[in-house]
Amino acid sequence: MPVDRPRESLDPLPAGLLRQPLDYLMADHHRQRVLCRLADALAATSGSDPDLARTVGAFISRDMAIHVIDEEQDLFPLLRRRASLEDAIDAVLGRLAAEHSSGSALAARIGQALDEAALTGRPLDRSTRLDLAEFARSEREHLALENAVVMPLARLRLTAGDLRALSLRMAARRGLLIDDPGPTAA
Ligand SMILES: [Fe+2]
Ligand SMILES: [Fe+2]
Repeated sequence: MPVDRPRESLDPLPAGLLRQPLDYLMADHHRQRVLCRLADALAATSGSDPDLARTVGAFISRDMAIHVIDEEQDLFPLLRRRASLEDAIDAVLGRLAAEHSSGSALAARIGQALDEAALTGRPLDRSTRLDLAEFARSEREHLALENAVVMPLARLRLTAGDLRALSLRMAARRGLLIDDPGPTAA
């Protein structure tokens, strides 16, 4: 029987939002909060819901993995370059990068278990449900730090040129072409 799930969407974001790359990243953070609620719903049931397992597994393996690359390869390096000493951002970015790396092992384990559940239609085992609950807990903490510290500082420090470059890199990573992103503010 399908899990009683929150009615919220993990639908893809509109490509045009890539012209405002910081807004795009914030919208992705919103989708990740939705994901945490869906992961909690899966963790809380002993029944099976292959469709939900497939949706959550695909989002973790694809969308979230791309988001982490956006941050690690583009946003964080730009911030390190532009932040002043008083911003004291290095320790925060170091912590977030460590969380990306520890989170990827957990995400891989969950992705594999959800793929199996989607294929077989069997309920999730107890250890996967515990993994899902831990994933949701740690992701919420991670998101809170990024939204409270990283994103406001990025809005303050990144230049129009940085934002244009960020737009183009994020679009290319998704196989999308956007013409003249030209963000002057985000
Ligand atoms: Fe993020
Ligand atoms: Fe992150």
